[in-house]
Amino acid sequence: MAASVLLVLAACMWSGAPLCSAARILPLNHRPIIGVLAQENLPDDSFARGSSYIAASYVKFLESAGARVVPVRINRTEDEYTKLFYSLNGLLLPGGDVDLQTSQFGRVTRIFYNLALRANDAGDYFPIWGTCQGFQQLSVLTAKKNLLTLTNTKAVALPLTLTPAAQSSRLFRGFPRDLLQSLSDENITPNFHSWSLSMQNYSRNAKLKRFYKVLSTNSDGEKEFISTMEAYRYPFYAVQWHPEKSPFEWIDKPGMVHTTSAIRTSFYTASFFVSEAMKSRHHFSSPAEEQKALIYNFSPIYRGVNAVFIQNYYFD
Ligand SMILES: *[C@@H]1O[C@H](CO)[C@@H](O)[C@H](O)[C@H]1NC(C)=O
Ligand SMILES: *[C@@H]1O[C@H](CO)[C@@H](O)[C@H](O)[C@H]1NC(C)=O
Repeated sequence: MAASVLLVLAACMWSGAPLCSAARILPLNHRPIIGVLAQENLPDDSFARGSSYIAASYVKFLESAGARVVPVRINRTEDEYTKLFYSLNGLLLPGGDVDLQTSQFGRVTRIFYNLALRANDAGDYFPIWGTCQGFQQLSVLTAKKNLLTLTNTKAVALPLTLTPAAQSSRLFRGFPRDLLQSLSDENITPNFHSWSLSMQNYSRNAKLKRFYKVLSTNSDGEKEFISTMEAYRYPFYAVQWHPEKSPFEWIDKPGMVHTTSAIRTSFYTASFFVSEAMKSRHHFSSPAEEQKALIYNFSPIYRGVNAVFIQNYYFD
């Protein structure tokens, strides 16, 4: 114990990075609570009530790995988000289909992203996870512009082309060897996106290049795009694919995959992010405040096995 603490301290003194804050040597928080950001309802959603939703698969994904979830609802004041930020141990930005620059989803992400930059700089650990649209939103925030390009990746399962950096990355280094092998050999990452961050645009943008380390790429046959990345100096992670779909969504269409290795990938991915949230010391001001905020206060709506999201939570 003492020796490992000394090692971490020594490593931290050399690197001087926010990731090496004192938070890392404090005991872990084994009751992490992660915010999942809601977004504007899709215009053609006949099940919709209220103005925003969260696909339940993102909630189950985090719960499967030992976290509790609080919905982060759109259309609240900046003060309310700031208070929530200091109550939560991490934030997950789901996939979806909103305008990254003009939506409430974009607005709330920007508020949390800026709070997280400042907190992590000050040694206050706060991880952010972006899936699909969440990935894209993070790239827009970091680059301060939209560098995305259209790709032919609407419904396809792909193997990851892992970069040399993947092996030693925070995200992948705890994955079992055989699972990393499956990830590179088997078509097990579900892709459901029209927009991607190409390697070309990433490489030409100094802000992105300095901020994110590329862990995997993919191609639609013409354009090589980033499928997994993590920030160098912040606990920020982004996947263009959907780890939450394999165990929890059942629409029968190309790109959906439910093999054992796909399900294991989902679990190890969730478990990684939850272990990051365990390093955060944030907490609600009282048990009553915590209980009021948790997702258990809401019930998901069943939308049919063949809906793109089998269950959604809806919010005013
Ligand atoms: C909430 O939504 C309403 C209606 O779209 C808008 O006028 C208002 O500015 C929003 N409030 C916040 C805090 O974003
Ligand atoms: C690069 O970004 C621009 C937007 O600034 C976009 O129009 C273009 O398609 C992108 N090119 C590639 C190859 O990603």
